[in-house]
Amino acid sequence: MTLLSPYSLRGLELPTRVVLAPMTRSRALAGNVPNPLAATYYAQRAPAGLLISEGTQVSPQGVGYIRTPGIHSSEQVDGWRPITDAVHAAGGRIFAQLWHVGRVSHPDFHGGALPVAPSAIAVAGESFTPEGRKPLGAPRALETTEVLEVVEQFRRAAENARAAGFDGVELHGANGYLLDQFLRDGSNLRTDEYGGSIENRARFPLAVVDAVISVWGADRVGYKISPYFTGLSMSDSTPVETFSYLARELSRRSVLYLHVAEPVSGPAAAQPGLPRITPILRAQFDGTVIANGGYDRALADAAIAEGTADLVAFGVKFLANPDLPERFRLDAPLNPPQAATFYAGEEKGYVDYPTLRPAA
Ligand SMILES: Cc1cc2nc3c(=O)[nH]c(=O)nc-3n(C[C@H](O)[C@H](O)[C@H](O)COP(=O)(O)O)c2cc1C
Repeated sequence: MTLLSPYSLRGLELPTRVVLAPMTRSRALAGNVPNPLAATYYAQRAPAGLLISEGTQVSPQGVGYIRTPGIHSSEQVDGWRPITDAVHAAGGRIFAQLWHVGRVSHPDFHGGALPVAPSAIAVAGESFTPEGRKPLGAPRALETTEVLEVVEQFRRAAENARAAGFDGVELHGANGYLLDQFLRDGSNLRTDEYGGSIENRARFPLAVVDAVISVWGADRVGYKISPYFTGLSMSDSTPVETFSYLARELSRRSVLYLHVAEPVSGPAAAQPGLPRITPILRAQFDGTVIANGGYDRALADAAIAEGTADLVAFGVKFLANPDLPERFRLDAPLNPPQAATFYAGEEKGYVDYPTLRPAA
């Protein structure tokens, strides 16, 4: 078995094990409606086994970056439809990544109100607001009674993802956003049933999982984590135990896949004193494992051959190479990524990276 072998994902037949990693591209239109250019961008990458959309807000409260799309208004749902249609017409499959940034936001996105989080702990860093970069400040802690309202935002977004023609959903539980903020003890100091023990800290993320499963069924729900991510003021005193508990609970719920973003310094790189996380979680999760973070063809083949991962998600390489699976097949050189257009540039750096063969 190699990266280019087919894979059966509970009834979704993937031609290869190459996955497009979710990537924010900051090209959404007014009202956070997806840009029609996204139909071309995603359809170009449809030969992948699976595409995962850029992070997509579940509610106005979940917004934290300019020009990122949502999936809570009817205009946004209508904007996604031609994108999922284009992917299907090109023979692909696409999941929506459902996102709530929590504290990684700024009052400018919320009519002056504070962003929400498990606890009122400030984040070091900057927010990309409509008026430019501003310091990220302290959020306000959600009231206990508000937590289930956020769960409901995810449930409605999951329904909207169905209406928009997606094939499934991925919960963005990685990179220091709301689900991650509840799970890890450095960002969750609550004293109610959503804080304290790991069982309590996982209660909100798992309630979101259950809500989304109620819409899609467990066979079409994935979950992304980044256990060793320390950006955006994130920390956890026992990450292996914390994420092992989550992996077991997701497994108990028969979640389709666990998507593990490893430190970008390379999949083999463990944090000092911390073991490589993906094999540990693999042993505790019965579903499909997607590995991610600094992979190339050889590392991906090795992870699949040793059984650590079933699928491998590629971010930057797939962004810059719309025909990445084909290039892997031919062992062809890769286009270099242009970082200046990751989050800006409209067509440029979005739909104009060259393919080996001219587009049909
Ligand atoms: C431009 C850009 C935008 C990203 N946006 C998201 C996102 O919206 N959601 C997410 O889960 N990860 C996001 N990521 C992280 C990628 O999904 C992936 O985890 C990371 O790039 C490491 O994989 P790679 O080494 O193959 O690029 C983003 C990465 C890049 C480069």
